[in-house]
Amino acid sequence: MIAHTFGRELVERYGSPLYVYDLDEAERQAKALFELLPKSAQVLYSVKANPIPELCAALKGAGCRVEIASPLELKVVFEAGFTPDQILCSGPGKTAAVVREMLLAGVTHFSCDSWYDLERLAGVASATKKPANALLRLQVSGAPSGSVGVGAMQSHFGADPGELLNGGAARVGALRGAELVGIHVYSGGQIQSADKLASTFEHAIHLAEQIAEAGVPLRLLDLGGGFPWPFGTSDNPVDISALREKLQHVNAQRRLTADAGLWFESGRYLVASSGTLLSTVLDVKLWNGKTHIVLDTGMIHLGGMAGLGRIYRAVASIESLAERDGAPLESVDVVGPTDYALDYVTRDASVPPLKPGDAVSIPNVGAYGLTASLVAFAGLEPPPEVCCRGTSVVAVHRHRTGHERIRT
Ligand SMILES: Cc1ncc(COP(=O)(O)O)c(C=O)c1O
Repeated sequence: MIAHTFGRELVERYGSPLYVYDLDEAERQAKALFELLPKSAQVLYSVKANPIPELCAALKGAGCRVEIASPLELKVVFEAGFTPDQILCSGPGKTAAVVREMLLAGVTHFSCDSWYDLERLAGVASATKKPANALLRLQVSGAPSGSVGVGAMQSHFGADPGELLNGGAARVGALRGAELVGIHVYSGGQIQSADKLASTFEHAIHLAEQIAEAGVPLRLLDLGGGFPWPFGTSDNPVDISALREKLQHVNAQRRLTADAGLWFESGRYLVASSGTLLSTVLDVKLWNGKTHIVLDTGMIHLGGMAGLGRIYRAVASIESLAERDGAPLESVDVVGPTDYALDYVTRDASVPPLKPGDAVSIPNVGAYGLTASLVAFAGLEPPPEVCCRGTSVVAVHRHRTGHERIRT
């Protein structure tokens, strides 16, 4: 949690609301994740969780690679100092133009969402005469899934594993322009125990072994992730320290794929705890006998997906940055600044008395904070994003929104 005086100082200097990212914390999380995984494993940072270049650079320094989904994310990771061989281009939304741009920039590894996506990659790679290594993303069924994102609902991502298990060897052998080097499995985010995480990885390894047995050699297994971290609350993180031993056991089951490289992906575990959203109370009013705190932030800056009620409801922890030691707590609803009924930050929060002008903070929002928000809604300016090491400010960014006129 950010020190209160430093938080107030930042709000005075840069205005409110404001995101603060602690780069040292992101590095600590990367170190903690590497310690849970087999020695040779690679960790890919999922840039969609937070595309701030300094955060990406901090994770590069901590030994991570990156997983990206767009030319804009490519620009960010180059700015952060990643080299093309440290990048995986992933996601189902790849057009031929995006693939071409990635290949021309030197990116060599792609996760393909279907056989069609793989053939498109092969076609563009042939035309550009660039090397392309493909991981085929596979649908997962029968393994524990996450509670947000991909795992929160029936997911359509990836190809049917049958495409590799039945006659896959001939198909892979006939492929020209790209080489199929591995598989990619991702069971969803926020998998809530070491046991469940280990089972998803075990499931993926079994699948890889079957595919190798069917004659498709695999050099790379991207086992995904789903490493959990609280979102927007000060709840204790789930203890996944037992994963280390469980994963050693799972990893030892590899036979035909024993030499394949192991990749894992993470967004929230790496950066959630680095981020704090600072905000200011705009108004305090009674409605239906209940105190309502109106903040200058809400679904427009924090978790738009949740704000729309599409996946899960945001239940943020609010901490006052004003020193009111000993004041009795009261139960309040905390709402955002737009006239949209779903724009609330949390209900029934216990807070010390707050008044307009007081600064508050919301923890654990370094992942899917601003990047998953409705920044185009209501025309309110996105908050500055401040990167710090201790109390030194390293960089400040502001996300741009607004319309650009294009030719009719
Ligand atoms: C394929 C894939 N990999 C990795 C991630 C990152 O997930 P998390 O931030 O929960 O670690 C996602 C998130 O949606 C994803 O879809």
